[in-house]
Order: sequence, then structure tokens, then C-alpha cells
Amino acid sequence: MRNNIQILGSLMLVVILASCQNKDYRNYQYMPNMYQEVSYEAYGNYEVFPNGMEAMIPAEGSVSRGWMPYEYENSTEGYEAAKGTLANPVPYTEDNLNEGKELYTIYCAICHGDKGDGQGTLAKREKILGIPAYNDQGRAITEGSIYHVTYYGINTMGSYASQTTERELWLINHYVIDLKYELDGKPKRAFDSDASVDDEAVLTEEEATDDGNVMTTTPSEEAQIEE
Ligand code: HEC
Repeated sequence: MRNNIQILGSLMLVVILASCQNKDYRNYQYMPNMYQEVSYEAYGNYEVFPNGMEAMIPAEGSVSRGWMPYEYENSTEGYEAAKGTLANPVPYTEDNLNEGKELYTIYCAICHGDKGDGQGTLAKREKILGIPAYNDQGRAITEGSIYHVTYYGINTMGSYASQTTERELWLINHYVIDLKYELDGKPKRAFDSDASVDDEAVLTEEEATDDGNVMTTTPSEEAQIEE
């Protein structure tokens, strides 16, 4: 019985409210939030959300999984800095070298040639000009400079950062240095022995996820793990 009265009451209210409508005027909006919803900015600060924010901005210094920031900027200074200081963190082993060779054949040989002498198919067909040999005196490439140009690209050579993982770029890097040694007529480098491999500093296979990306944790995740 009480329910019926309530329903009747609300019906009457609706009728009264509806009858106030006048098509010639701009009418009142009852409960305007139903028509004009409040739009929140994803990263805005609002009291209604428990932590003050709808979406959380990642903690400062966070690094997304499978992606490591590359600290050298895409400039002449960045190139010189990488050339002078950046070294290959992946151990130079026979397996790694063979992997590097495969990747080199896929990505680089078409221009740089199987021997790294700048005589790849595209060079011979004059599709791409100015491809240097890896032992070009004027360039005097290093592990760091190779990484830098494969990461950012250089003039007509594109960047490989989106097609390869960090580790893959370093594997290719080993092979490029090998080719340079060969072109220079230098003896092959000795492989790293297991003992000399510093596991901490190295992008090991174990760390790599299924898609070949390197797993990293953010400082806050590390703090959580330690707790
Ligand atoms: C489309 C052709 C092409 C492909 C593919 C290519 N390169 Fe290059 N590369 C070039 C050209 C052209 C230059 C010269 C760029 C310049 O200095 O103007 C160059 C320059 C270089 C240099 C010397 C850069 C310097 O420091 O002066 C290195 C090292 C190098 N490439 C490595 C690679 C590696 C490793 C790959 C594969 C991941 C690769 N390139 C794929 C065309 C290519």
C-alpha cells in the first residue's frame, strides 16, 4: 500500500514537472547532470576520487616493461658522447655472435653488404648512395657510435629501434665490430669466457620476455618487491 502511494506520488510529480514545459522558452533542466555529464580529465585532480586522481601518473623514473630509456640524445653531441663512452653490455660469445650475424643479414646486409664493405645489393644497384665500409677511416666507428646510429638512424639510413629490441641491436653490434676487424685485417677477438661475464650489468636471455623484450622494474616496483 505504501509503495503504491509512493509510485502514484512520483507519477504525479512527473506529470506536474512535464506540464511546466513550454516549447517557446528555454526550459528548466531537472537534474542537468543526466544530460550534461561531468567530464573528468584522465590525469585531473578531483576530490571525488579516493586517491585524488582518476588515472595515476606513473611514479617519477618509471620505465615501461620491455623498454629502456636511451640516454644519449639525437644530436652531434649525443653521437660523440655515445661514441666515446657507450659499450656493449651483452657478452661476446659465439652464440651471441651467430645471432648477431643472422640479424645483420636480415636488417643491414642489403645496404652494407655481407662483408660490411658498403657493397650491398642496394648499393650495387645504386638505389642508396654513400654507404660506407665499416672500416672507413674518417668515421672510425665504435660500439657506442654503431648503437647510436642503429637506434636513431643517420641521414638515409633509418632507425632500427622500433624493429629490434635493445639486446638485438647489441647482438648486431658485435657482428659489425667483427666485420670491421676483418676488413682491417685484424685477428678475431677472443670470446668472453663465462667467468668474465658480469651478470648484473648484462641483458641476459633469462631476463628477456617471450617477445624478446627485456624486463625491467620501476623503482617503486622494486621497493614493493623488497618489502
Ligand atoms: C637503406 C640502406 C641501409 C641499411 C639497411 C642500413 N644502413 Fe647503415 N648506413 C647507410 C648509409 C647510407 C650510411 C651513411 C649515412 C651518412 O653518414 O650519411 C650508413 C652508415 C652506417 C654506419 C656509420 C655511421 C657513422 O657513425 O658514421 C654504421 C655503423 C651503420 N650504418 C650500421 C648499420 C647497421 C648495423 C645496420 C642494420 C641494423 C644498417 N646500418 C642498416 C645505409 C643503410
